[in-house]
Amino acid sequence: MSRIAQLLQSALDATSNGVLITDNTSEDNPIIYANPGFEQMTGYDLSEILGNNCRFLQGEKTNRDDVTRLRDAIRQGEAIEVELLNYKKDGTPFWNDLSVSPVKNEQGQITHFIGVQSDITDRREKENARRAQLMAENVVDTVREPLIILNEDLTVYSVNQSFYRFFQTRPEDTIGRRIYDIENGYLNIPALKTLIERILPEKNPFEDFEITHEFPRIGEKTLLLNARRLDSQEGRPEYILLAIEDITRWRQDKAALFESERRSNLIEGLRDVAIITTDPAGRIQSWNSGARDIIGYSDEEIIGQNLSVLFLPEDVESGVPGNEMQRAMNGSNASSDRWLRRKDGTTFWAVGFLSALYDESGVFQGFAKLIHEQTERKRLEEEIVRRTDDLAARDRAKDEFLAMLGHELRNPLSAVSSAAQAAKLLGNKEVERPLAIVERQVKHMSQLVNDLLDVARVTQGKITLQLTLLAFDSIVISAARNGQQVAIKKGLDFQIDVASNVFVQGDSVRLEQIVNNLITNAIKYTPSGEVRVQLEKLDGSAVLTISDTGIGMDTELMPRLFQLFSQANRSLARSEGGLGVGLTIVKQLVELHGGTVEGHSEGEGYGSTFRVTLPLDQNQGSDDSENDEDGGVVGNGRRKILVVDDSEDAAEMVALTLELWGYLVLVAHDGEKALEIALRERPPVVLLDIGLPNLDGYQVAQKIREKYSSDDIKLVALTGYAQESDVQKALSNGFDAHLAKPISFATLKEHLSEYEKGK
Ligand SMILES: Cc1cc2nc3c(=O)[nH]c(=O)nc-3n(C[C@H](O)[C@H](O)[C@H](O)COP(=O)(O)O)c2cc1C
Repeated sequence: MSRIAQLLQSALDATSNGVLITDNTSEDNPIIYANPGFEQMTGYDLSEILGNNCRFLQGEKTNRDDVTRLRDAIRQGEAIEVELLNYKKDGTPFWNDLSVSPVKNEQGQITHFIGVQSDITDRREKENARRAQLMAENVVDTVREPLIILNEDLTVYSVNQSFYRFFQTRPEDTIGRRIYDIENGYLNIPALKTLIERILPEKNPFEDFEITHEFPRIGEKTLLLNARRLDSQEGRPEYILLAIEDITRWRQDKAALFESERRSNLIEGLRDVAIITTDPAGRIQSWNSGARDIIGYSDEEIIGQNLSVLFLPEDVESGVPGNEMQRAMNGSNASSDRWLRRKDGTTFWAVGFLSALYDESGVFQGFAKLIHEQTERKRLEEEIVRRTDDLAARDRAKDEFLAMLGHELRNPLSAVSSAAQAAKLLGNKEVERPLAIVERQVKHMSQLVNDLLDVARVTQGKITLQLTLLAFDSIVISAARNGQQVAIKKGLDFQIDVASNVFVQGDSVRLEQIVNNLITNAIKYTPSGEVRVQLEKLDGSAVLTISDTGIGMDTELMPRLFQLFSQANRSLARSEGGLGVGLTIVKQLVELHGGTVEGHSEGEGYGSTFRVTLPLDQNQGSDDSENDEDGGVVGNGRRKILVVDDSEDAAEMVALTLELWGYLVLVAHDGEKALEIALRERPPVVLLDIGLPNLDGYQVAQKIREKYSSDDIKLVALTGYAQESDVQKALSNGFDAHLAKPISFATLKEHLSEYEKGK
């Protein structure tokens, strides 16, 4: 072997490249030589490969196109260089940088091929990795949002430019540091830490995780985080990609939008209130559905028009819209209720107000007008006013008519009355009775006409009082006396309980009219039972109470009690006569005296109570009423006395006398009534007839004595029997004295004086 050949052999043995020679003259180009480098590279023994075609190095992932190129070149006898994926004997893939060159003989025929292989796996992988990294960096940099790639140990592998800009940091403070240590713990956010540490073992990406954090340099930010773990080919966790989206502004905008939408929804949703905003010149800028519904224009038609299109032409002419705006600008809510105009020209009643609008910095922005449509209510109000005026006019006409009627009736009535009296003077016995009827009816009619005239005067305010200082108690007693006679005739129990020295400023005629009217009514509406007249002084007032146990009043009638022509019971009232004007006159007269009157009943069948309160004369105003616990003494020393006689005339005569003596006289006509009054009223003296219906005088006396001793009640027997035995019988039945009829008033007075002294 030549020296050169020896050196070549050494080189072939020493090189780590594979070198092999194939025999192109044999079938399928078998290998006839392979150096130790080839054996090392592929793991095959020389004995295993000699005589084989080299394609055994190829496998599943070998690129077929490259193989085809190789075959074509070999067929053409051309040299070729190609990078192929080959497999070692143990199956490990490796990148083979193969160059094949032909060897020709002197005749120019290709007899052999020489192949040189080198394992370029490492170099390729490095290149791939570098390429991938470059690509990744390019991608990352083109992303506008901050991105960060972390190594498995959470040190920063790479970040994009946007990251530096956003967090205002530099590469030297970022790359290679643990994410939590960037810029002294910039991203050391507990929520982020939890997420990242969860991702590492579990590989669950997290998406759209929102955090709001106060960053030292950039302030509070709301960030949307997306992260995923990137694994190596072998499935090892290699990187964590963290994308950061700054949604601070979006969040704020969204919140603002939500708020403004909420407001506009609210405003839009108000269907029965029109809300209109204008620019500073009063041109309409917005209006809600309420405005559309009420006023009738579409948005296109109204936006930009002046607010004054809603006003009536005459109001526009007199400057109403401008005035309203001026008032609103002056700071007062220019509230104005007025008729406004719809698109179709019809009008509606608007309760509205106008307010000036200012922005946050106080710059005037325009006006807001609020309108509430109240047409129906306004029409009703106007109708009510119209009807009320109408009614008042009719009422006046009626009053005038009544006044005229009264006057017109008076003249013929007085003519009839005079004629009747003249006829009576003629002394014709035959016409005496019919004449009496005429007289009675004329009297009745005169009363009706007087009532009619009174009511007319009262309602027309034509009554004037002649005020003087009066003893109201005397007026009440006198009226009560008259009433008592009528009541007793009707079989009613009539009680009078009147305090003395009740002075008021009043018109005696009118006060009498008041008391008479109420007492007459009480008797009229009490078919049986009791009427009671009481006068007392209470809290600076004279209080007159007239109560009865009569037919009472329907509670529904109560509010209308003092209205003209209302009567408790029409049928009864009719049968009793009268116009139903009495209580109206009473009320007016009492009020003219500065007093009040009220009527009350527990209902039909439960009686009625009327109470008149008049101011006491100021010099007499103190409440000096006395209780009557002490021996039946009432108002200023008047003593009660009960007179019992079945003869009404006899009782009346005795009562009248006793009253003249200053007593307050109670009257009864039978035993039971006498007992009832005595037990209830405890009069200090009872003048008791013996012969009485239902209980006789003795029985009454015995029963009184069961409750009251002689110290409480003195019992004086009045009898027609004056035998000594009768006197004894009386005394043994509890009487204190015995007086024979006809009664001697002198003797009676002596007894009474004695009892007075004994008190
Ligand atoms: C000198 C020489 C060396 C070769 N070395 C390799 C090799 O290392 N790896 C390989 O895959 N193919 C190698 N080939 C190519 C194959 O032997 C074969 O020519 C190729 O697979 C194309 O032919 P085919 O389509 O019949 O398989 C080599 C060929 C020659 C001539």
